[in-house]
Amino acid sequence: MISIALLTIIFILCGVTRDSCFLFLEVIPTIETTYNIPGAPSLVLLSDLHNTDPAPVISSLHSRHPDLICITGDVLYGIRPEGDRSPLETQANVLPFLSYCAAIAPTFMSLGNHEWMVDQKDLDLMGETGVTVLDNSWIEWNGVVIGGLSSHHVTDYRRFKAAQTTELRYPLPENVAGIRGVIHARDHKPETNWLEEYCYTPGYHILLSHHPEYWPLIRDKKIELVLSGHAHGGQWRAFNHGVWAPGQGCWPKWTRGVYEGRFVVSAGLSNTTWIPRICNPTEVVYLEP
Ligand SMILES: [Fe+2]
Repeated sequence: MISIALLTIIFILCGVTRDSCFLFLEVIPTIETTYNIPGAPSLVLLSDLHNTDPAPVISSLHSRHPDLICITGDVLYGIRPEGDRSPLETQANVLPFLSYCAAIAPTFMSLGNHEWMVDQKDLDLMGETGVTVLDNSWIEWNGVVIGGLSSHHVTDYRRFKAAQTTELRYPLPENVAGIRGVIHARDHKPETNWLEEYCYTPGYHILLSHHPEYWPLIRDKKIELVLSGHAHGGQWRAFNHGVWAPGQGCWPKWTRGVYEGRFVVSAGLSNTTWIPRICNPTEVVYLEP
């Protein structure tokens, strides 16, 4: 009874809108988490910005100066674009955030589910910030082979769009039902064929994979380090365990921390629902060898 009353008070304090939830969250600072991963380069893992204010992240990066910045997707908040305008135009924090990162250190990013609608023009704009977007592709950097595994929401939507005849850049509201059938399909899988050649490329392999629930698909591959986000720490944390995560459901396995010594999941930089994060601060994750 006491816990229900407590939760009710928290919900009242938060209000019921996404914006007011962010107001509540502003009193909880983004924390810096550091893990030691032997053999890994000094790097920072950023995930799930969702177009929120990047100032706390940039301030942290300026003070820590990582050698490498890895962004595991969901820089956008993936609602249907407004009036056929690019989400990079209407979500004002995203491109400046990418530019800030690229000015601090070499920056690589993969695509999350909230990037489901990005087209080649959007990818080009992201690339013009100086960030290397790895869209089911990889690159060699200082002896490190960095790959980006795109969310299946991205590749599923591309297939859906290729079958459409419209000249419009983004989907119309009346088509969203059809798109939902694609982007909410839980049994869909990412495109992993390219990973074989990636793994055979000599070097230390870092794979940026937005969805932690992809781990069973890639665990047995020769990849020294896998970085993920998406789970938002499980939204509420109890007994150092997340309560719920998209794609994993209740009491999810991979939400925040280091798993099996080489799989790192960030709790992310934001909240996207009216449900508050409880005992679950947003975080900037640093890895040191
Ligand atoms: Fe996500």
